[in-house]
Amino acid sequence: MAGYLRLGVNIDHVATIRNARGGPHPDPVRAAEIAEAAGADGITIHLREDRRHIRDGDIEAIRKATRLPINLEMAVTEEMQAIATAFRPHAACLVPERREERTTEGGLDVAGMQGRMAPVVDALRAAGARVSLFIEPAPAQIAAAQSLRAPVVELHTGKYAELWLEGGAEAAAPELERLKAAAADARRRGIEPHAGHGLTFDNVGPVAAIAELAELNIGHFLIGEAIFIGLDAAIREMRRRMDIARGAAVAA
Ligand code: PXP
Repeated sequence: MAGYLRLGVNIDHVATIRNARGGPHPDPVRAAEIAEAAGADGITIHLREDRRHIRDGDIEAIRKATRLPINLEMAVTEEMQAIATAFRPHAACLVPERREERTTEGGLDVAGMQGRMAPVVDALRAAGARVSLFIEPAPAQIAAAQSLRAPVVELHTGKYAELWLEGGAEAAAPELERLKAAAADARRRGIEPHAGHGLTFDNVGPVAAIAELAELNIGHFLIGEAIFIGLDAAIREMRRRMDIARGAAVAA
């Protein structure tokens, strides 16, 4: 039986809906409180350069509202480095960011930008953050993460999720194999592998069953599903499916 798999709930899209009207509702702080009560193991937030999700003031408000560890996703920029080193989150996940993208498309090319990343990784580490690098499940990226002495990599499951939408488990199988190989490779190198992006009730099982993974970060689907069944129920159901995949719970 695989060990416990943590669930980090990404609450960015509560802020996206709030920002659509400019007022205070719905408040991501309340989402963090509900996530904690529903059994989430962490809160993930992405402070984007354009502030389209959470804003600077949300970070401290969320920290005050929850005892859960905060995983701050951030681009590799001087501005974000200054904010993160001042805020000192439990974890800092470095992600690629392009203004025109709808969401984080593709992983960070750690192998291609080690020189630029090294001082940022070092500064975050000095600030006490557990540094994670959001990468494609590719050997060169994991090797580069090891050179940077990153304790964590988060494997991008976006391609897997896309293939699943096109043709279900069968279509996604080759990408699942890449994720498995990458998670095992990371463990061999002493790096803790996490995964996330595009995970849903339907496609989470095979990823959650990868024994080497320690954490999944899931956002958009949970916030979308919350419209229909509520955030508490959506998180509990995701947790249940993860536990079944780990062999820690029996299917209903
Ligand atoms: N992990 C990282 C590093 C991300 O950038 C995102 C998306 O912001 C997620 C996980 C969650 O992806 P999704 O919202 O598709 O569940």
